[in-house]
Amino acid sequence: MFKTDLLKEKIIIITGGGTGLGKSMATRMSELGAKIIITSRKQDVLDQTAKEISDKTGNPVLPIAGDVRNYQDIERVLGAAIEQFGQVNGLINNAAGNFISPTERLSPKAFDTVVDIVLRGSYYWTLAMGKYWIEKHIKGTIINIVTTYAFTGSGYVVPSAVSKAGVMNLTRSLAAEWGKYGIRINAIAPGPFPTPGAWERLLPDPRMEQKLINRIPLKRVGEHSELANLASYLMSDFSGYIHGEVITIDGGEWLAGAGQFNWLEMVTPEQWDEIREKTKKQKK
Ligand code: HXC
Ligand code: NAP
Repeated sequence: MFKTDLLKEKIIIITGGGTGLGKSMATRMSELGAKIIITSRKQDVLDQTAKEISDKTGNPVLPIAGDVRNYQDIERVLGAAIEQFGQVNGLINNAAGNFISPTERLSPKAFDTVVDIVLRGSYYWTLAMGKYWIEKHIKGTIINIVTTYAFTGSGYVVPSAVSKAGVMNLTRSLAAEWGKYGIRINAIAPGPFPTPGAWERLLPDPRMEQKLINRIPLKRVGEHSELANLASYLMSDFSGYIHGEVITIDGGEWLAGAGQFNWLEMVTPEQWDEIREKTKKQKK
C-alpha cells in the first residue's frame, strides 16, 4: 500500500516502543524509512528491540531508557535523540500502564500509578515536544494511542479509562491551539490487539479472549500490521489535513456494544420466524 520511502524524512520518538504495539509501529515505520527512537523504563528490552528492528530494516533505531512520569528523563531522551539525528519531528505517545480491578479495591497509589503513566506521561511528552517544535519552527506530528473506552468509559479499568479520556481531550484541545504552528495531532483508538503486556494484565484467563471476540462484529482481534499501517499513514504527509481526529480501529467492537438491539445477534433463524409471526399478529 505504501511507497518504501514514505517516512524517510521522519525522525520519530515512540514511547513504550520496546514491546507490543509500540514495537510493531516502530518496525513498520522503520521499514518505511523513518529514523526511530524507542523509549521506556527497561534499557535491556529496548536494546534488544532496537537491534532486531535495525537488523531487519537497515535503518537506525536508538534505544534510550526513560520514565514518562519524569520530565527530566523526557528532556534527556529528547536531547539525546536530537544529538543523534539532528532533530525530531514525530512523537507517538504509546506507553501505558493498566490492570483490571474493581475500583473500590484500588489503593490511591494504584490509581495514581496508571494515571501518571498514561495521562501525565502523555502530556509531559507532548509539552516537551511542543516547546521544542514551536521554538525551532518544526512542523511536528503527534499520534496519541488511546482506547475505545476513552469515549464510552469502562468499569474495572477506571484509572486507565479516565486517563485515556484525558489524552483524547488533550488531542482535540491542542489540535485547536497548536495547528497554527503546523503541529498536527491525532489519536488512534484501538480495540483488542493481542500483546503480552495487555493480555497478561487484562485477559488473564484464556476464556476471556473468546468472550471478547464474540463481542466484535468482525469476529476476530486486530492484527498488528493493521494498526501499524494506520499509524504510518497518520504520521505521513499524505494525512496532512487530518488533524484533531480520533480514528477507531476495533472491528466494530464499541459500536456493537452500544447499539440498543445489537444483542439480537444471538437470535436464530427459527426464532426469527417465530418473532415475525408474533410481531405480525400484534400488528393485526
Ligand atoms: C490492583 C495493583 C495491581 C493490580 C499493581 N497494583 N497491580 N492494584 N490490581 N493488578 C498497585 C500496587 O499494589 C501498587 O499500589 C501500585 O499499583 C503500583 O504498583 P507497582 O507495581 O509498584 O507499579 P509499577 O512498578 O510502576 O508498575 C506499573 C503497573 C505495571 C501499571 C502496575 O502493570 C506495569 O508496569 N505496566 C506496564 C505495561 C502495561 O500495563 N501494559 C498494558 C497496557 S494495555 P500499593 O498501594 O499497593 O503500593 C492497555 C489496553 C487497554 O492499556 C485495552 C485492551 C483491550
Ligand atoms: P505493552 O506492550 O505493555 O506496552 C506498554 C509499554 O509502555 C511498554 O513497552 C512499557 O515498557 C511502557 N511503559 C510502561 N510504563 C512506562 C513508564 N512509566 N515510562 C515509560 N514507558 C513505560 O502493551 P500494548 O498492548 O502494546 O499497549 C500499547 C498501547 O496501546 C497502550 O497505550 C495501550 O493502552 C494501547 N492499547 C492497547 C490495546 C491492546 O489490545 N493491546 C488496546 C487499546 C489500546 P517498560 O515496561 O519497559 O517501561
